[in-house]
Amino acid sequence: MEDFYREYILDHYRNPRNRGVIESPDITYADSNPLCGDEIQIDLLVKDGLVDDVKFSGRGCAISQASVSMLTEMIEGKPIDEVKEITKEDVLELLGITLTPVRVKCALLGLKVLKSGVYGIEAAEDEDL
Ligand code: FES
Repeated sequence: MEDFYREYILDHYRNPRNRGVIESPDITYADSNPLCGDEIQIDLLVKDGLVDDVKFSGRGCAISQASVSMLTEMIEGKPIDEVKEITKEDVLELLGITLTPVRVKCALLGLKVLKSGVYGIEAAEDEDL
């Protein structure tokens, strides 16, 4: 079964889904993995509370790139409120293989960026009130 997941990870790494940037995103955020310095940026367009478009850019290892690619696929069309509920376990489940602690950081980089972006815009909007 792990072989299937390995293939799945490699497929996302070689053919990343939603790779690119959005010209005028509603949400954009970038962050890096402190262990290696690899950075990921995620841009989102939000329409009526739903993820209308999502793109990611940056660089990283196969695990980080595959995991953010899977994550962007997972959130397309989803309500932002649901995106906020995505957990580390959800992302690790998507990858489906056992990871060492260092690799877990790689796997969760995309989620960290996504959550910071989604919660960041909310904090910014609150400040406007
Ligand atoms: Fe840098 Fe995995 S080695 S994100």
